[in-house]
Amino acid sequence: MKKTIILCVAFVVPITQTYTEAFRPSFIKPTIIGLGLSYDDVLLIPQRTSVTTRSNVDTKTRFTKNIELKTPIVSSNMDTVTEEEMAIAIANDLGGIGVIHRFNTISQQARAVRRVKRFRNVVIEYPLTIHVGATIAQAKNSMSTNNVTSLLITNETKKLVGILTSRDIKLVANDNESVSKYMTGRDRLVVAHKNITLEQAKKVLFEHRIEKLPLINEDLTVAGLITSKDILKQEESAHASLDKKGRLLVAAAIGIKSDAVERAQALVEAGVDALVIDVAHGHCDAVVAMVKDIKARFPHIDIVAGNVVTADAVRELVEAGADAIKVGIGPGSICTTRITAGSGFPQLSAIIDCFEEAEKYHVPIIADGGIRFSGDITKAIAAGASTVMLGSLLAGTDESPGQALIKNGKKYKVVRGMASYGANFGREAKGDDAKKTSEFVPEGVEALTPYRGSVKEVVFQLLGGLKSGLSYCGVESLEAIRGKGQFIQITNAGLRESHPHDVVELEK
Ligand code: XMP
Repeated sequence: MKKTIILCVAFVVPITQTYTEAFRPSFIKPTIIGLGLSYDDVLLIPQRTSVTTRSNVDTKTRFTKNIELKTPIVSSNMDTVTEEEMAIAIANDLGGIGVIHRFNTISQQARAVRRVKRFRNVVIEYPLTIHVGATIAQAKNSMSTNNVTSLLITNETKKLVGILTSRDIKLVANDNESVSKYMTGRDRLVVAHKNITLEQAKKVLFEHRIEKLPLINEDLTVAGLITSKDILKQEESAHASLDKKGRLLVAAAIGIKSDAVERAQALVEAGVDALVIDVAHGHCDAVVAMVKDIKARFPHIDIVAGNVVTADAVRELVEAGADAIKVGIGPGSICTTRITAGSGFPQLSAIIDCFEEAEKYHVPIIADGGIRFSGDITKAIAAGASTVMLGSLLAGTDESPGQALIKNGKKYKVVRGMASYGANFGREAKGDDAKKTSEFVPEGVEALTPYRGSVKEVVFQLLGGLKSGLSYCGVESLEAIRGKGQFIQITNAGLRESHPHDVVELEK
């Protein structure tokens, strides 16, 4: 009883003060909370190492709570960086993941996701079929239009009755004959149940010396097709980022506008592995609500939320259901948020603060923006990031959308901030959700970035630098240094000393 009275007294607010002012005394006057540092402000202190060769350094990491990657490279959801070509290269050749941007129609974005998922699909889920009564001419036509070398033959009830390959009909003289005459019929056909594992399928293909294994449902209808060619393709690249079915991993961005749920639904149907709820200022009611809503609708899909820079924001988004947090407000090469709005947080300090909170929940941090050198990646990881998101570093490669152009004899590609005039014009031209130019306040710029050739070469250099960086830190794996970096703050003189100086570089 006594306790209750004391509490009542304590909550009395003086009549001249608002409720908020009374309970936020530290915000009554401006406060500088400390010093914020960026990549250039620090160096990692070299530690004793037993690493003998950099190639042994393990870069395995997590993109989200449930998605593992072989390398910490994530391509940014910008329309000058990630569409399907980039997402395929990053996942197939480089062990990272691409985030398909959302500045397109829902069907364009879903199609891009589908293409990535199908790129090295071992199980063809919808193989081409033709009716058993069809003619050889019809079969040849279907094979050439669809660029395939075999057709599954079905009857009226869609049950599998045979297979026809281009080899079977190469020398057929009369194209009006029925496919049933030349197909390998069900009595001689090796088939498997749709739940066969990859390993079992390989064994069956080998034992029977066949190249194609049709999959069937319990009722003998067609459930898929596995080919030895696709299995070989699968085994070629040990570096690829794959889901449980052996398909490439891919993520895609959604916003918080009215079409976000419909977009998410289409992306999930297309097979997306993670949805990235991507907003310039992610610590807001709408993003928290969207994370909860999307998580409730698609509990099996991992959600990345951002962008944020404080521990409070991390806690709120993680408690709402986020499986990874994207950190960075204003560090990007094409960002002007800090200039336009006066708001932001130096990136290295933001990663350190956010990591401390996210680690309590075992949720990974994606350091988004501001990476210019491989050394920045090592610093981001040592500060607590599990992956880094790259924009302009990848925008100059062959795999990014758009063509290269020549200016003053040098080759470039265009990179643009998604809040730039150029991006807004683009949205306006497509009839998308754009602001009128006179009402638009940009927080990004449109720019040229040097043409850099293949993304493989660019990322090879970045990963080489990262591995070297980890060995200087005395560790053999990314995980061993994540969030444990020993940094020294440097001065402008230190930074000058870090770059080539007092020489004329030949390649410039
Ligand atoms: P980098 O430095 O890798 O940064 O090119 C890419 C990241 O920048 C963010 N981004 C923006 N930030 N205004 C901003 O303030 C913009 O118009 C803009 N467009 C992209 C985004 O997080 C991206 O991954």
